[in-house]
Amino acid sequence: MGRIVTLTASQTPGLDAVLARHPCEESQLIPLLQDIQDHVGYISAESMRAAATHLNIPESSVYGVVTFYSQFYLTRQGRHKVKVCQGTACHVRGAVEIIRAVTARLGIKPGETTRDFEFSVERVACFGSCALAPVMVVNEKVYGNVTPEMAIRILDELT
Ligand code: FES
Repeated sequence: MGRIVTLTASQTPGLDAVLARHPCEESQLIPLLQDIQDHVGYISAESMRAAATHLNIPESSVYGVVTFYSQFYLTRQGRHKVKVCQGTACHVRGAVEIIRAVTARLGIKPGETTRDFEFSVERVACFGSCALAPVMVVNEKVYGNVTPEMAIRILDELT
């Protein structure tokens, strides 16, 4: 009679290695989630279950943290993350035109990701670089005094 093998490895490439780097302590929840997001790109349902099991805490606690902090994404994001500031200084200096140009170019709304998972766009509150308003951040690189034309150019250089 053959052996029964139970597969417990996750379906998400790299997830098990990320889990193995963190001690099984509840205090590791946020660092673990940040690590998962860095490696997987977002926090999937499977990742939440795996984190809960690894830390021996309820899934609802993991879900509560993931949905509380805006830094965590529940859906797969684009390879390029475009964030347009909507803070007061940027708003006054034309942020609305920037977001309009970006979303028109990519064919998606703020909060969405292109079908090919190349770009995600989101509106963000003040980046703390108000002197550079309007500000757009792409893959953590800050662009200041952005015009709609410049925003399009930045996107085009990434494709
Ligand atoms: S309002 Fe946009 S950086 Fe502060």
